[in-house]
Amino acid sequence: MSQDRPLRCVLDDDIMEFASPPPDVTFAPRNNTASVTGENSSQFHPRSPTRTSGSGMKESSPLLAPRVEHEYGFFENHFPEDPDFQETIRKAEEAIDEGIYPERIYQGSSGSYFVKNCDMKTIAVFKPKDEEPYGQLNPKWTKWMHKLCCPCCFGRSCLVPNQGYLSESGASLVDQKLQLNIVPKTKVVKLASETFNYSAIDRAKSRTKSMISERYPNVGRRFHRLGLPPKSGSFQLFVNSFKDADYWLRRFDSESLPESSAKRFQHLFERLVVLDYIIRNTDRGNDNWLIRYEIAKSSTTDSDWSLVENPEISIAAIDNGLAFPFKHPDEWRAYPYHWAWLPQAKLPFSQEIKDLVLPQLSDMNFVQDLCDDLFELFKTDKGFDRPTFEKQMAVMRGQILNLTQALKDGKSPVQLVQMPVVTVERNKGGAIGRVRTESDTFTQSFSHRAPFFSWC
Ligand SMILES: Nc1ncnc2c1ncn2[C@@H]1O[C@H](COP(=O)(O)OP(=O)(O)OP(=O)(O)O)[C@@H](O)[C@H]1O
Ligand SMILES: [Mg+2]
Repeated sequence: MSQDRPLRCVLDDDIMEFASPPPDVTFAPRNNTASVTGENSSQFHPRSPTRTSGSGMKESSPLLAPRVEHEYGFFENHFPEDPDFQETIRKAEEAIDEGIYPERIYQGSSGSYFVKNCDMKTIAVFKPKDEEPYGQLNPKWTKWMHKLCCPCCFGRSCLVPNQGYLSESGASLVDQKLQLNIVPKTKVVKLASETFNYSAIDRAKSRTKSMISERYPNVGRRFHRLGLPPKSGSFQLFVNSFKDADYWLRRFDSESLPESSAKRFQHLFERLVVLDYIIRNTDRGNDNWLIRYEIAKSSTTDSDWSLVENPEISIAAIDNGLAFPFKHPDEWRAYPYHWAWLPQAKLPFSQEIKDLVLPQLSDMNFVQDLCDDLFELFKTDKGFDRPTFEKQMAVMRGQILNLTQALKDGKSPVQLVQMPVVTVERNKGGAIGRVRTESDTFTQSFSHRAPFFSWC
């Protein structure tokens, strides 16, 4: 009898799972676009669970979050608007099915994984939400100690905890919208793998279900899912032949770049500044962006780079999980942009970057569109909180305001980061969502509290 009990629990639990969602969960309305395009209903995006009561707000303290997202049934990683991305995620799923599992990146502070294809080639980086530094299943014991012994110093008080995966894909969204093309494409997906960090209960449940299906196939057929539960997280395409910016910046110090490469690098650097400033990245060290510099085409062994034929330079802004704060950093640390110390930051913004971003950034409709797109992304999180999101957007609008002014005034990145920070709040009378009305008004305010450790 007592041996029966766990089995029954597993069965009941699973049957409940596909019978009906928990009472406080409703599903977001279906996307209308599918009916316009005449798509079959089975091709719809999976709907995301949203909570009807205030209980979803508990996610604001995610360490206490009672449940995880994967409880809500079927899902599909479906990105019809981006066939290349779709193909990559399909290859990742195929490899996992073949037993080629994502591999943990050991140097990182959270549970991050190199995802492979069937040829064992790394094709993406996956960061599950529940393995982030604040997540319930963060696998790093140093972070656990940190959380336990020094909770007041843990994390960044200006960021929404446990939403790093949204910040990663939000950065990619901003990058695409402004055509900066420096962030490897990043979207939220769900994956399951033996190598992810799961609770003992999840592993036991999965083992029991497999055992039951093997022994009693009729009962097993009633489980809608075998195996470990999929995790939500950010999935970023892997870029090849790049090295940490730190490595190349040191080399550029001692051996200067050919003129055309230096000009290209300056422009790409300015794109990075634009991205980081808009999303108010609090973690842009020189290890969190990558540079690729192709010097292999040289026909000579001489290390003089002027002899390199068509040297190509590119940058990739990775690790964007600590951005989109809901207030400007104003407490213990300033979270500086480390690029501000580079010589490239002393030059005024170029005409090229102004031409690329100024028309959009000066257009209020474009900025509101950007906020609306971020809303669509961020609201998919179980802990989504509208007032907090509005604060995040107020910071972002303030950053855009400063950046626009700096570009118009011909300032340099160093001068930009010295401008007093601003927030621009949308007033409550305004319409919610994409609808824009005459009543949309904004309030601009300057922040007076400087961070305790100021850096300039
Ligand atoms: N998209 C990518 N393409 C190529 N390499 C990547 C990519 N993303 C990450 N890497 C490599 O993996 C390393 C760790 O990645 P990342 O910094 O994003 O992880 P993390 O777990 O957030 O680490 P931490 O928080 O400690 O910086 C990077 O230094 C880089 O070398
Ligand atoms: Mg990093």
